[in-house]
This record gives sequence, structure tokens and C-alpha cells, in this order.
Amino acid sequence: MADTATAATTAPAANVLGLSGKADLLRFLTCGSVDDGKSTLIGRLLYETRALFEDQLAALERDSRKYGTAGEHIDFALLLDGLEAEREQGITIDVSYRYFATDRRRFIVADTPGHQQYTRNMATGASTADLAVLLVDARKGVVNQTRRHSFIVSLLGIRHVVLVVNKMDLVGFDQAQFAAIRDSYAGFATGLGFESLVAIPASARFGDNVTRPSDNTPWYEGPTLLDHLETVRIETDPAGEPFRMPVQWVNRPHFDFRGYAGTIASGRVRQGDRISVLPAGKNSAVARIVTREGELAEARVGDAVTLVLTEEIDVSRGDVIAAAAVPAPVADQFAAHLVWMSETPLFPGRSYLIKAGTRTVAGSVTAIKHRINVDTHEHLAAKELHLNDVGVVNLSLSSPIAFEPYTKSRSLGSFIIIDRLSNETAGAGTIDFALRRGTNLTWQHLDIDRAARAALNGQKPAILWFTGLSGAGKSTIANLVERKLFAIGRHTYVLDGDNVRHGLNRDLGFTEADRVENIRRVAEVAKLFADAGLIVIASFISPYREDRAMARSGLEKGLFLEVFVDTPIEECQRRDPKGLYAKVAAGKISNFTGIDAPYEPPENPEIRLPTVGSTADALAEEVIAELRRRGVLG
Ligand code: ADX
Repeated sequence: MADTATAATTAPAANVLGLSGKADLLRFLTCGSVDDGKSTLIGRLLYETRALFEDQLAALERDSRKYGTAGEHIDFALLLDGLEAEREQGITIDVSYRYFATDRRRFIVADTPGHQQYTRNMATGASTADLAVLLVDARKGVVNQTRRHSFIVSLLGIRHVVLVVNKMDLVGFDQAQFAAIRDSYAGFATGLGFESLVAIPASARFGDNVTRPSDNTPWYEGPTLLDHLETVRIETDPAGEPFRMPVQWVNRPHFDFRGYAGTIASGRVRQGDRISVLPAGKNSAVARIVTREGELAEARVGDAVTLVLTEEIDVSRGDVIAAAAVPAPVADQFAAHLVWMSETPLFPGRSYLIKAGTRTVAGSVTAIKHRINVDTHEHLAAKELHLNDVGVVNLSLSSPIAFEPYTKSRSLGSFIIIDRLSNETAGAGTIDFALRRGTNLTWQHLDIDRAARAALNGQKPAILWFTGLSGAGKSTIANLVERKLFAIGRHTYVLDGDNVRHGLNRDLGFTEADRVENIRRVAEVAKLFADAGLIVIASFISPYREDRAMARSGLEKGLFLEVFVDTPIEECQRRDPKGLYAKVAAGKISNFTGIDAPYEPPENPEIRLPTVGSTADALAEEVIAELRRRGVLG
């Protein structure tokens, strides 16, 4: 293979990495569907800019002869596949970054695998990129995935896009075909806010217009891909923005050193600068800027530093240190764009962990304003967001954070949503603006608290949360437990699924979204009643683990007891106290728990009541005995 790059250097990847952070650098991301030739394109770019090591080259030439699908030519896809295999050993990484350089610029390309979970990987890669290279197959043109990728690219603030119309060799380098694809994409992209959009007819496989102008496209007068990447002007001066640094960790190696380590998200900081620590808003000044290479008088965006302050103030991980004169705003309610990335849909009201910058807090989506059709940009009504959906939502956090709108700061304006149980990243979002509502609400302090009210009642409050299938026996046992507590003079209240659905939750049905909301409201009521000093007995199917975890969250240990009324579905069907299973069998009810809607049994309930072979009274006695053992009943 005698290809020579037009503007290649001999710098291997290691040298590229070693260059100082100040040299001109373009970060870009490539996206395309599985067979669009993304691997081949990146492979060729790396090869033709000589960013590969000798051993990788030798292996590539050998493998191409052995397994390649490109005849005499080098099969660049094999190179990426090889790197992919290397990467697979570190399975947690879903985006890999490759480095190369020419005389004019250094490049970091985020390579995101194109498999099913692509959106998540793409969003991760896109969040730091300046430019996106979108690949389409010249035979197919713009497809749904191209539009979705474009939308996310735009959402994540990328303002420069290259549309590589690949596989031009397979359409005979047809100018009209290229023009049609270019124009249809340009039409779609209007309104996505791209500052530059360049379409390039290419063949990654044969190298046309990748780093060398092609003889096959005499009608094309634009740049090659590499030319464009080398010369496109990216205007960003985050160093000119006010200083912000999220605190990654508190560095306290010994007693007389305390520093706050992090990477500067925007602006610059000098010794002596006044700073404010957010969200608390305490002020201090920078005494020293410490780095691994020694102390600095000044540091700027992108630098990893440890700041030592002049006064001892309370700073913890997740705080943002900001210029005192222009502190970042602080809020706990936001309007935001959200890309949903989990198989489990997003439901308003469900509690998640929200990680914004280096801070993680509990939070939930309080409302889905609309879902966006990524093909037409239309706004659609939605009660939930599914895998790969994009929506505009209101977000509510359990405590305030320092932030910036995403348009001002990508690092302070973005967040991810983490599923509490699986710990997976379920969504990624960008902050549009803060909502005032929440920031003007404070907790009104009341002198009489739960302990006082409970003392007057002469009891310890508790929430007994009964969960189980319909017909499992929850209500029957709950009723007996309440009678027994009543008999020994305890103040109680039973919240029961069927009853609550007659009033407070009259507006809710049995879709997943409605059940989440049902449990959210009931959990709030249970907490209020416990606060009033009562022993609350809540009896709900509450089929989702996550929502039961939410009902428990925020309560002090020992207050919440999960009671699993464990009855096999066959037994529930046999008992069928309300005749509902018969109706299900007759096709008159759908979304029925255990039949065509899920039930997730508790993994570690405080009390498990297997009902088969026991009487309701014996089981209620067991609950009472457990309450005595746990000291709820003296
Ligand atoms: S939950 O799933 O949202 O927790 P909840 O406990 O409030 O349910 O209500 C369950 C009761 O509603 C059942 O005991 C049953 O009487 C009735 N019901 C009516 N339709 C359904 C259904 N599709 N699935 C489950 N229960 C239903």
C-alpha cells in the first residue's frame, strides 16, 4: 500500500499525547449506523496520517491479506476491529478516543460503537467534541439514525458538522446522487443551529476525498475530509468566561495541608483571586495553585489543579468554586432536554440519582413537557420517555446545585440520570434554565416535630409497607394488624390501594406511569402520617422495586418496614377474592399484575409472609411479634 498522506506527520500517537495542551486541537466524533464504514474511515485517517505504530501496521497488512474483504487493499475496518477487541477487555469503556496529528493540527476522535445502545455512547463522545462527522451510505442516503444522531449532536452543543457521503464507489461516483443526499440533509438540518455544514463525497475504502482529493469526483470542488478537519475554525474561548471549577475531591494528605482538586471548567484563576464556594455561597481567596508540576501563579480552563484557600471554609466534593464577582447561579428546579437511554422507561415522579458535574443528588422528573420527534422536530405529548427518546422535562433535585445553562457551559450545564437500583446511566440531559418555583420555597420550621407528636401519642411511628400480588392477602392481613394495634391502644392508619384509588388517586389507572405516580403520592402521604406520629399501614401491589425504594428513601433507619405478602400467582388466581382474575381470563382487564404486567418481588424485605398453609391471623401475629422485636412496640 503506497498511499501517502497529503499532510501527515511522522508523529506517533505517543508524541501526539505528549504535546502541550495549548497547541491547536480539534476534538471530533464520528457517527453512523453499523455498516456505513465508520471503522474504515477512522482506520484510514489514522493510517494516512501515520498515527499508527509499526507493529500495528504490520499486523494490519498481514490481517488484510488473511481476512480482509478489500482484495489487494488494506482493510481498515480490521484495524478498528482489532482495537475494539483490545478495548473489550476493559468492558466499562464505551467510548474510545484515538489521537492523531498533522502539521496543522492535533486531533482527538471519539469513536463510539454503533450497536444498540448507541445513543448513550454517542452522547458521551459528543459531550466534549467540537465537530461531528456523520457518515451516510451513498446508496441509502439520510436514514432515521442520521437524523437522530444529528439531533443529539445539536442538543449537545456541537456547532460544526461534516456529512460524509461514503461508498460513492458503489454508486459510480454519481454527482446527482450526492447532491440529492446533501440537499435533503441540509433541509433537515435547518433549525439545528449548525454554524458549519460541509458535505463530502467519499469512499473510505478506496480513499477518495479522505486525505487525498479524488480523480473520481472531478465535479466536487470542496475540501477533502482531512483538509476540512485541519482548517475548520472553531471559535471557543472558555478561558474568557468567568472562573468555575467543580471540586473533584478534597485533598488532605496531612494536617496542615488542605486543598480542593478539580479540573477548571471555564475561565482562569490567579493567586489572590476572590472566590465563592457554591451552592453555599461562602467567600474566600486563592492562596496557592498547586499542580503536579509545581505551583502556578495562574491556571486556566482544562488545567487540573489543587486550590488552597486563604480561609478555612467548608468545601466538599461536588461543590463548585467560582469567581466571587460572578458566581454561578444556584437552583434545584430546571427545565432541561433529556435523552433517555434505558430499556426501562422514564416516568415522572420516579426517584433517580442525578449527577451534575461532580455532584450527585437525588431527584426526579416532575413533568414531561413534550417528546420531540427527531425526524420532524415536532413536539408530541408524552407521559413517559422510552429508549432513545428525546424530551423536554422539568427536573427537581433534592438539594440545590451550582450550574450554568448548557449553552454557556457544557460541563456545568449537563447531567446524567442514574438508575438507583442498577446503577446504570439511564439518561443524559442538558440544562436549559432554572425554574424559579422551587428556589423560593423553603422548609417552614415547625416547633412540634414527629418525636413530639409521637411522644404525645405514647408510641413510636412506623410505616409498614405491604407489597404483593392482587389477591395475595395484603388488605386482609393489614386489617388484622391494625385491629391488633388498635386493641393495645396504638394510633394507626391504613392506606389501601383500592380505597386511595377512590379519592386522592381517582385519576390514575394501571399503566406503568400511573402506578409510579400512585406509589409516589401514597409514599408522600405515608411519610406525612408517620410524621404525625402514626403507625401507617400501606397496602399496595407496588410492583416496582424502584418505587418501593423511593417510598423508603429519606426515612430514618427502622422507620420503614417492607412486608412481602408472598403468595404464588396460581394461589391468587384460585382465591380470586374480587373476581378480577376471572375477568382477566375473559379478556376484560389488561395490564394486570402478574399476568400481563410485571411484579418485582422484594429482595430483602424486613418481613416475609408466605401465606400458603398459614392463617391471616397467624401472619398478623407475626407482624406484631416483629414490631416488638424491632422495638417499635415497647
Ligand atoms: S399498584 O400497582 O398501583 O400498586 P394498587 O395496589 O394501587 O396497585 O391497586 C391494586 C388494586 O386495583 C388491585 O387489588 C385490584 O383490586 C385493582 N385492579 C384493577 N385493575 C388492576 C390491574 N390491571 N392490575 C392490578 N390491580 C388492578
